Amino acid sequence: MATAIRHNEPAPQASDIRTFPPGFLWGTATAAYQIEGAATEDGRTPSIWDTYSRTPGKVRNGDTGDIATDHYHRWQEDVAIMADLGVGAYRFSLAWPRIQPTGRGPAVQKGLDFYRRLTDELLEKGIKPVATLYHWDLPQELENMGGWPERATAERFAEYAALAADALGDRVRTWTTLNEPWCSAFLGYASGVHAPGRTEPVAALRAAHHLNLAHGKAVRALRAALPGDARISTTLNVHHVRPLTGSAEDVDAARRIDALANRIFTGPVLGGAYPADLLSDTAHLTDWSFVRDGDTAEIHQPLDFLGVNYYTPTLVSAADGTAGHGSDGHGNSAHSPWPGADNVNFHLPPGSTTAMGWAVDPSGMYDLLLRLKEDFPDLPLMITENGAAFDDYVNPQGEVIDPDRVAYLHGHLTAVHRAIQAGVDVRGYFLWSLLDNFEWGYGYSKRFGAVYVDYPTGRRTPKASARWYADVVRTGTLPA
Ligand code: NOJ
Repeated sequence: MATAIRHNEPAPQASDIRTFPPGFLWGTATAAYQIEGAATEDGRTPSIWDTYSRTPGKVRNGDTGDIATDHYHRWQEDVAIMADLGVGAYRFSLAWPRIQPTGRGPAVQKGLDFYRRLTDELLEKGIKPVATLYHWDLPQELENMGGWPERATAERFAEYAALAADALGDRVRTWTTLNEPWCSAFLGYASGVHAPGRTEPVAALRAAHHLNLAHGKAVRALRAALPGDARISTTLNVHHVRPLTGSAEDVDAARRIDALANRIFTGPVLGGAYPADLLSDTAHLTDWSFVRDGDTAEIHQPLDFLGVNYYTPTLVSAADGTAGHGSDGHGNSAHSPWPGADNVNFHLPPGSTTAMGWAVDPSGMYDLLLRLKEDFPDLPLMITENGAAFDDYVNPQGEVIDPDRVAYLHGHLTAVHRAIQAGVDVRGYFLWSLLDNFEWGYGYSKRFGAVYVDYPTGRRTPKASARWYADVVRTGTLPA
């Protein structure tokens, strides 16, 4: 498949068995709604996640992002923690409803000022800001007008991208359009376990297309507004899909899920076309007439790298016709997030699991990176998220000792290192997450942070894994 990239620099090489290439970018990641709080401050209006989390029964314990980790007020402390960890980069997202509360019109100065202060502080501490434009907080007013299933939302997104780039382009040089559009489309509009909580399979396919279109339009807007050295990307939760057995039926089930999880995005974004098998697998649901002439060319914009979020592999088999969509690791819903693939079963891969119930399997990371190189040989990759939730607690000595997270990170970084040695061009790694935070439908019950947050007080305590990661960052080398 043809890939459009802009800068064809030679891939850095890993020098020995445990050392990462010089210039490898080490970072931590967060997202606005998950950490900021201050939901009604400085002109911010509700996003779909405010509405969803305030709807009884949607989020565990009725949790909302109203206060979250209070990062909107504690950002200096959080940047100081990152400086202490020694990370070279920070991936965060801009809250669209803080910058453009109704999803249209001029930017709100106070909203922009927050990100100006934050990025100034990062730059002063030598930490490169990596901004994501959309990490799921669609302004509620745009959802009221139909949300991502409507084409107009893509137009609005491009306008927002231009505003953000105009205001922050002097200090932010690395940009990501969307975070995990699969979740926005299929968890938001098909299974309904994410905001806005709709369960309409065709709307989910329309949403996927309009997210792709939004990406393409936003890349154009960013290129027009940013200096020539800006780096522009998108982030996908590329699923590493494995068939349960080698049977033709199971292999075909894996193909169908790969189409709906991955190629629905990589097809147009990196190759300029939707895959034929995706269109035929879903032909009984829609004729895809919402894809207009010229759309896929507009989506297919040159990118500087692909952001990859990886947590666990996906194991599937063909169903015998009696089972539903089973567990796909993204919460329970009577509705499938896989339009047109009802006859696929999902299985828990072997091995230990995290607090999310996700299998710990670094080989999935390795295999995924090798496959991406095979499919898109010239495209640099960045691990924009990897990490794990465990049931952390502060011990009587005031420490958080989290050996399971250290083991998880060690295993996955080893996989990344092996992939680089095998020739995959991986430019950096962002640990998810800097802080414990609002884990969407699970509320605050799942802790992904390298830093523990005591929610009643907001107090931050770096976990043992934070110290471990700081050593890796400092030395660029994994311990044996
Ligand atoms: C991916 C999402 O981007 C992030 O928001 C989420 O918290 C992590 N996965 C963990 O589920």
